[in-house]
Amino acid sequence: MTNTQVFHVDPHHPDPAAIATVAQALAAGRLVAFPTETVYGLGANALDATAVARIFAAKQRPTTDPLIVHLADATQLARVAFDIPPVAPRLADRFWPGPLTLVLRRAPHVPPNVSAGRDTVAVRVPAHPVAHALLSACDLPIAAPSANLFSRPSPTTAQHVLDDLAGRVDIVLDGGTTTIGLESTVIDLTQTPPVLLRPGGVGVEALRMVLSDLRVPDAPLVTDAAEAAAAPGSQLKHYAPHAPLFLLRGDARTAVQFIHTVVSALHARGLRVGVLIPDEEFPDYTDLRAELVGLGPAHDLAMIGRYLFARLREVDSLGVNAILVRGVAEDNGGGLGPAIRDRLFRAAEGRVLDAADPTTALQQLLRLIDATTK
Ligand code: TXA
Ligand code: MG
Repeated sequence: MTNTQVFHVDPHHPDPAAIATVAQALAAGRLVAFPTETVYGLGANALDATAVARIFAAKQRPTTDPLIVHLADATQLARVAFDIPPVAPRLADRFWPGPLTLVLRRAPHVPPNVSAGRDTVAVRVPAHPVAHALLSACDLPIAAPSANLFSRPSPTTAQHVLDDLAGRVDIVLDGGTTTIGLESTVIDLTQTPPVLLRPGGVGVEALRMVLSDLRVPDAPLVTDAAEAAAAPGSQLKHYAPHAPLFLLRGDARTAVQFIHTVVSALHARGLRVGVLIPDEEFPDYTDLRAELVGLGPAHDLAMIGRYLFARLREVDSLGVNAILVRGVAEDNGGGLGPAIRDRLFRAAEGRVLDAADPTTALQQLLRLIDATTK
């Protein structure tokens, strides 16, 4: 156990003295959780293989899952990558600082464990003033995955970080709630054509303005463990709450009926249900004996994205036996919709129930609940 220190800083104007202290800790090989505009990262000096190994240990993260290296600005790219294609600086101009991660060829002096042994390296320049101040002050590339325990929802507040990692990291830099709330978009520029590896804070339509040949796989999700190792970060059971979560397919009316059916069936077994719904739908559930949590206004995907992980943690903390989620981001606008759906699908470990076929859907749900609550 480590004694985790918490430093509170102003998210817009962090105190330079606090930042200098934390930067020194990073240079000395310590683990520091810090806010970015997407989620909190768990940082260590990317050039120090021992410090990087401590990240994997603290998070209980499989060593097959590579980390993202954070830089103060795009001019530092050549410090961690080589053979940089001409489109990289153009993407950097347009999207950095910001929620875009580029996979490039890894420079030989970057320790292989940063990239889980691959010859590539993922790089991002975050926009958050605290992250930027820290990266500038330490003048080091900082490897930082999301600062959650492996397979838990990503942290969007310092408290989330402490809930998962208190006693396991040296410092938590508290700069308030992150603004985007979903992780960066990851694209692989070492493949031809470039490939979207993870939908995130930058939408595909915006990316295609610069990268017209970007390939977006139909089904970026894989379930098989061997396949998951080949496509890092793609395994299901990512962002998962403790209680099993089910995504509902179907229009609002059938979903409302189905949710009532599920709640009665579980109530009869003495079990409690958490339901995540768009804010507008609360009136449909006034008589429901369940824990209702609002995801935000149905059409405000920025708001839903910002608080999605927080809501997943919240509903889970209510001690429910099952979680139902309905009606989020069904538009295909190319903005945050794909990222939100991707995170929910993983939180559900791929379980999608068709509310239009309630008999089958209820059977599927009860089979899993009965197996997990025995
Ligand atoms: O917004 C974000 O990206 C946040 C903040 C802290 O910057 N970081 C983050 O890191 O989400 P993490 O470790 O939770 O996700 C990193 C993912 C990996 O799971 C993998 O999908 C991809 O980035 N990745 C990293 N390095 C890669 C590489 N060399 N090749 C392919 N994918 C890589
Ligand atoms: Mg993560």
